[in-house]
This record gives sequence, structure tokens and C-alpha cells, in this order.
Amino acid sequence: MRWRGPPLLRPNAGSLRRTSVVGAGALLLSAVLLWGCDSADGTLPPPQAPPAAAPIAAGPVPAGEELIRELGCGACHAGLPARGQAAAPGLDDVGQRYTPGQLFAYLQNPQPARSGSARARMPDFHLDERESLALTLYLTDGRGRRAGRGEGDAERAFEQAQRQHRESDAELGRAIFRSQNCAGCHVRSGEDAWAAGPLLSGEGSRAEPEWLREFLRNPTPVRPFGFQPGTGSRMPDFRLSAEEVDTLGAYLMRQTQPLAAGTQPPRELSPFARAKAEALLREQLPCLGCHAIDGEGGRIGPDLARVRERRQPAYIEAMLRDPQATSPGTVMPPTPMPPETFELILGYLLGREGATEPERLSLVENRIHFPQGRSNEELLYGRVCAACHGPQGGADGYNARFLPTPPTVHASAEYISLRPDDTMYDGIHSGGRILNRSPRMPAFGAMLGREQIRGLVRHIRELCRCDGPRWARDGGEGRR
Ligand code: HEC
Ligand code: HEC
Ligand code: HEC
Ligand code: HEC
Repeated sequence: MRWRGPPLLRPNAGSLRRTSVVGAGALLLSAVLLWGCDSADGTLPPPQAPPAAAPIAAGPVPAGEELIRELGCGACHAGLPARGQAAAPGLDDVGQRYTPGQLFAYLQNPQPARSGSARARMPDFHLDERESLALTLYLTDGRGRRAGRGEGDAERAFEQAQRQHRESDAELGRAIFRSQNCAGCHVRSGEDAWAAGPLLSGEGSRAEPEWLREFLRNPTPVRPFGFQPGTGSRMPDFRLSAEEVDTLGAYLMRQTQPLAAGTQPPRELSPFARAKAEALLREQLPCLGCHAIDGEGGRIGPDLARVRERRQPAYIEAMLRDPQATSPGTVMPPTPMPPETFELILGYLLGREGATEPERLSLVENRIHFPQGRSNEELLYGRVCAACHGPQGGADGYNARFLPTPPTVHASAEYISLRPDDTMYDGIHSGGRILNRSPRMPAFGAMLGREQIRGLVRHIRELCRCDGPRWARDGGEGRR
């Protein structure tokens, strides 16, 4: 099966696209009609503790599908019903309606601002001071710096944050706005919605019901750098009532997908077998290049120490067998393994219990990375390789610092000019181990086609602006 790249990392079609002038105009108009009156005085309620258990809207909770529409889950998740009409205010002129201090406070701790808004609500993205500051500067078109009114606690807090965090500017704010898919719910000129979260049409075959309920109640990070690795997208907290959690959980558990899993329940591992699995993971397999276990390893995929708490056994097995069919568009390649190794690793993951707390990574310190490219090769490199090797081949991808061996610097003419194309091809196809390099360099041969791998080799030559060694160029070209 040829990997075609995530079908999700692009603006969603249809209802999610809101950049057309007509569409945006109509949405703005309805936003003004819906919201204009309330905000006439231009104030947001002062930040205070959230109303803890109180449901946000009165009245009985509607059925799952209706609730999902009203809350706007489909703004970020493919495979869920989409929202019919604009249910969130447009953000083009929000800087005129509110002072920077008010926005700054609200983004860190969104409060229900309006009544009569059905169940729609602004979810909490757990934005810290620096992240909210950057967003505020972006939403006020950079005016925050000059026009802060300098009065009141909120303005003072905002001004102090500005003095403290010079790195939080409007440009970073725009990147955060994009990474969190704010445009999925809010119209803002020039911003597109995209599928920031996982496809949920098969969630019932994937999640453990207990975990799902806890996650909806209090979303903690699963994929630390975002669902599309590097984008930093987060599942926001809707402050759901217990009843809403039950309704949504029940709805999602009914959405199932067929899985390519075997039928044999893996046997329980002896302490010796467990130690062997751990040694394989540390020394031979590529898993820890992308996944952490007990704090060791990469952050591209979810932490695996507690995967069994989160996932059903058949899903875990299917992910190992055929990641592309199981989670379409994922960057995880299938790792070819002898059957005994496969069983050992599967048994190990199913038997694991861990205590690692999931981390929420700072959107300021970790450069948010949206893969882009003028050519297919560049795009593929940006999506799959840049996490470790860096967008420009500088070995400075966000995941590089979690690896025991630094990734090869593809931009280095000095080193790459010594490497023949065939050698690089073999490394990408069969992994670092075959070149006697770090096993954390994964084998992509079962995920990418020959042409795709050759394209990547060409792209590396562009990054280093260098040719291979002379002896390898003559006649070496046509061999594959
Ligand atoms: C602003 C975008 C956004 C909105 C809106 C959103 N989500 Fe999410 N959701 C995400 C992201 C991003 C993730 C992945 C989080 C991670 O991996 O850490 C996620 C993850 C999830 C997961 C876990 C999926 C899995 O198996 O890993 C569930 C379940 C979920 N969301 C349900 C919902 C529901 C229900 C709603 C509506 C109440 C909703 N989401 C609204 C962005 C969003
Ligand atoms: C799932 C939909 C959804 C997403 C995603 C979302 N919002 Fe909101 N937002 C809302 C709703 C609904 C309101 C109105 C809440 C109310 O009035 O109580 C709102 C209100 C706001 C307001 C106050 C606007 C006003 O005129 O009163 C701001 C500012 C805001 N959101 C910014 C953001 C930013 C920045 C992001 C991304 C980090 C974001 N929102 C993501 C639904 C969303
Ligand atoms: C190139 C990076 C990469 C490599 C190498 C890799 N994975 Fe993954 N893996 C991921 C990503 C990304 C996901 C998340 C997929 C998704 O979003 O649904 C994932 C998901 C998983 C899941 C499901 C976890 C969950 O909570 O949904 C399991 C289990 C898993 N990987 C095991 C492994 C094992 C075992 C290996 C080694 C044989 C491995 N992975 C190698 C990137 C990788
Ligand atoms: C999980 C991190 C990670 C990912 C993802 C990754 N690499 Fe690597 N790569 C490494 C590491 C680590 C090395 C080995 C460095 C060493 O041992 O010297 C390496 C080595 C290589 C080499 C060998 C260079 C040589 O010495 O000849 C090539 C070629 C390469 N990577 C290409 C790629 C390409 C192309 C992709 C995307 C399809 C990719 N890598 C994805 C981590 C990664």
C-alpha cells in the first residue's frame, strides 16, 4: 500500500471552509445578529473561577449527534456531524470590542459570556500566559503594544506580560491560532479551518470506555506535539457536565471500525521476556524514536507506557500490524519483525502499567511546524522526516532532542557528499540499523514506494546542495 500522506492535513471541504467572501460575509452577518447585542458594551465578564458543575445551558441534554453539532466537535474532527451554522462570534473586529487586557484574561480562562447561546461555548485550550499574550497581539493586530489602556487589573497584567515575554509576538499568535484551529469555529479573514484532531468515526473500536469518559471530562495530551505531529494541536476542554460526558461517550463508543487484528490473545510475559522486550525496544527497534516509555524516547506519537489504559487490545495489535489501515494518514510505518518479536512486543505493551503523566508541550518553546512544500518530496519530507531531521535538514526538528543519537544533518554538504544515493536509499528503506547507525531511524520501506524514497534522496541532495561521491555516480544512477 502506498502512503499518500495524511488525508487530513488540509483545509476541510464544505462546511468547514469559511474563507470565501460570500460565506465569510454571511457568517459575519449572522455572527453580528447573534452576538452583536450582547457585546454592545464591549466588556467581557471579569475573569473568575469557572462555574464548576453547573451545566452551561439549561434544559435537557440533547442526543449525541445534536450535542456534537451544537458544541462544534466536527470543527476539528472528521467523522463527526458538522455544525450547521455559525455559533461563535467572528474575530475580525474583536480587538475593537475588547481591550487587550480583557482578551488576555479571557483566553487563559474563557467564561461563558452570553446567555441564550444554546450549548455553544468557548472551550479552554489551557493556554498559558505567553501563549495567550501572543494570541491577544495577533487578534488585536499588534495594537496591544501601544493601545493598552493601562487601567484596571487586566490591563496591568497584560502590560506586565508584555514586558516579560518579548518572544510572544503577533506572528507567534497567528501560528497558535492556526495550530489550535480557532478558525474551525470562528471566522477570521485569511484563516482556514483544518482537521486538527483524529478521525473519530472508529473511536468505539479504539478507546477504552473508562479512559474515554475521563478524557472528555478532562482532556490531557495524548500526542504531545499535536495530532498531525508538529502542529501542536490540542483537544480543548469544553467543561462538559457529567450528563454531557455520558451522552458523548455513549455516542462515540457506538462508532466502530473493522480492525486487522489476529485472534490469539497474547500470553502473559515472564519477567525474563519483559526484560528482553525492553532491551529490544532500547537497542534494536525504532519505536522509541517516536514514542516515549517511562520518559525515554521521542514525542511524535503517544506515550506507550499506558497505552493499554487508553486502547483496546485489538486496536493496539492492528496498529502494530498495519498502522496505515488502522489510523489513516499516520506517519507511523509498519516495522517488519519476526513473528516471535511481534508477539513479544505486543504482549509487553498489553501488560504494561505506567505512571507517566502526559505532558502538555509549550507552543512557544516548541516551534510549531506545519509541513509545506513546493514539491511532493519536500512535503513528504516535512511530514515524515522533519520531526527529527529538521525542516531544512539541520537535524533540529522538535523531536531531535529526545533521541540518544542526533539525526544525520542532511544539510551538511561535507557529510552527505560522502554518502552514495544507494546508501541513503537503503537507510530510508530498511532503517538506521542496516547502515550500522542508530536503530531509532525507522524503516520506511513498508510505507513508502520506491519512487517516494528516490524522491526523498533527491530532496536530501537539494538540502545539502551536493552530489554523491564520484565513484557512486557513474553508472550508479540507473540501478534501481
Ligand atoms: C479545536 C479543535 C477540537 C475540537 C473543537 C474538538 N476536538 Fe477532540 N481532539 C482535538 C485534538 C487535537 C485531539 C488530539 C489530542 C491529542 O492527541 O493529544 C482530540 C482528541 C479527541 C479524542 C481522543 C481521540 C483518540 O482516540 O485519541 C476524542 C474522543 C475527542 N477529541 C472528542 C471530541 C469531542 C466529543 C468534541 C466536542 C465536544 C471535540 N473532540 C472537539 C481537537 C479538537
Ligand atoms: C468549538 C468551537 C470553538 C473553538 C475551536 C474556539 N472557539 Fe472561541 N468561542 C466559541 C464560542 C461558542 C464563543 C462564544 C462563547 C460565549 O459567548 O460564551 C467563543 C468566544 C471567543 C471569544 C470571545 C469573542 C467575543 O466576541 O465575545 C474569543 C476572543 C475567542 N473565542 C477566541 C478563540 C481562540 C483564540 C480560539 C483558538 C485558540 C478559539 N476561540 C477557538 C467557540 C470556539
Ligand atoms: C515514525 C514514527 C513512529 C514509529 C517509528 C513508530 N510509531 Fe507508533 N505511532 C506513531 C504515531 C504518530 C502514532 C499515533 C497515531 C494516531 O494518531 O492515531 C502511533 C501510534 C501507535 C500506537 C497506538 C497508540 C495510541 O494510543 O493510539 C501503538 C500501540 C504504537 N504506535 C506502537 C508502536 C510500536 C510498538 C512501534 C515500533 C515497532 C512504533 N509504534 C513505531 C509514530 C510512530
Ligand atoms: C524518529 C526520528 C527520525 C525520523 C522520523 C527519521 N529519521 Fe532519519 N535518522 C534518524 C537518526 C537518529 C539517524 C541516524 C544517525 C546516526 O546514527 O548517525 C538517521 C539517519 C538517516 C539517514 C542515514 C544517513 C547516513 O548516514 O547515510 C538517512 C538517509 C535518513 N535518516 C533519512 C530519513 C528520511 C528520508 C526520513 C523520512 C522519511 C527520516 N530519515 C526520518 C532519525 C530519524
